[in-house]
Amino acid sequence: MTQNVLQVLSGQEVKPYPIWMMRQAGRHLPEYLKVRETAKDFIDFCFSPEKAAKVTLQPVERYDMDAAILFADILLVPIALGRKVEFIKGTGPVLEPIQVSDINTFTSNMSVVEPVYETVSKVRDRLDLSKTLIGFCGGPWTVATYMIEGKGSPTKEIAKRFAYENPGAMAEMLLVLAESSAEYLIEQAKAGADVLKIFESWAENLPPPMFDKLVIEPTKIIISRIREAGITVPIIGFPRGAGLNAIRYARQVDVQACAAGTDVPLQSFRNQIPAHIATQGNLDPLALRIGGDTLRQAVNNVLETISGPHIFNLGHGVSPDVKIANVHAVINHVRTGDGDYV
Ligand code: CP3
Repeated sequence: MTQNVLQVLSGQEVKPYPIWMMRQAGRHLPEYLKVRETAKDFIDFCFSPEKAAKVTLQPVERYDMDAAILFADILLVPIALGRKVEFIKGTGPVLEPIQVSDINTFTSNMSVVEPVYETVSKVRDRLDLSKTLIGFCGGPWTVATYMIEGKGSPTKEIAKRFAYENPGAMAEMLLVLAESSAEYLIEQAKAGADVLKIFESWAENLPPPMFDKLVIEPTKIIISRIREAGITVPIIGFPRGAGLNAIRYARQVDVQACAAGTDVPLQSFRNQIPAHIATQGNLDPLALRIGGDTLRQAVNNVLETISGPHIFNLGHGVSPDVKIANVHAVINHVRTGDGDYV
């Protein structure tokens, strides 16, 4: 059976545009919260294949999304590298900040993330063949920012300083992350992921030479390793907030789609990247939270700026306060021309 998402990723325009949403499995869904309550903590949740498979499937069951995205997190790879990671309610992820002297002491134990592959295979077994299962990892730079800063940071100043002042250690760390992320994605594909996505969520505010070293080079390594392993599934890159650097990313990194954050003018982006590379995005998540005519207009604005192979999505993730009726309305709008916004 054909998957419309795979058709788009092979370079074809498919209308209506296939649709899924980042963070579609999450706290805006009561059925997610119910399963979440039964898990000891967020990491335990990610490493519980039965529970993780269940919540991965929920948005496809409720909304008929065209793709399911594996329920896991980009910060599981640092755990496999021996780093302490905690998710604290109301604060988000907290890690033990890494020092330059720690770089040589990485111990990679990828068996820690094996439950994730079991989740993938359970989901693929249960998911309709017309639906696409997306596996993912974090971009090495984004994961490194969390490992260096110890938490999310608006400016990434500590991580950028680390990169300026310790280029050798930084390159080494990105290489370790690229190699382990590649292995992680290869195993997800072997377990049944149809597509792989690399979330480089903190690609903003980097001078171009730094962007090349910190984002483009490590991502190229991940993709080379995947292809060397004989894995042929399409790959979506998401250099969020990268501005014009995203054009170089799409031209130089061998991705089959480039996802765009909310700030990207899709029409001009489309015209500046190779025609066979699909785009994905980029509805403002805040418009989804506001709803009503604001949301209708925002969806129309995106639809008016896209052409060619495209997957409809947000520019970033669904937040816990999003109304279910508005997610339905966006999907109906994309598929039929309008939706019942509230
Ligand atoms: O639906 C999906 O997108 C699937 C799974 C997914 C999660 N995290 C689940 C999650 C994916 C693809 C991610 C990626 C991720 N995780 C990124 C990159 C994408 C992005 O959003 O920029 C980043 C930066 C992280 C790190 C992370 N994980 C943060 C900053 C937080 C806390 C923020 C928050 O919303 O609480 C998480 C936790 C997290 N990851 C949740 C979910 C559903 C919320 C956890 C909960 O239930 O309390």
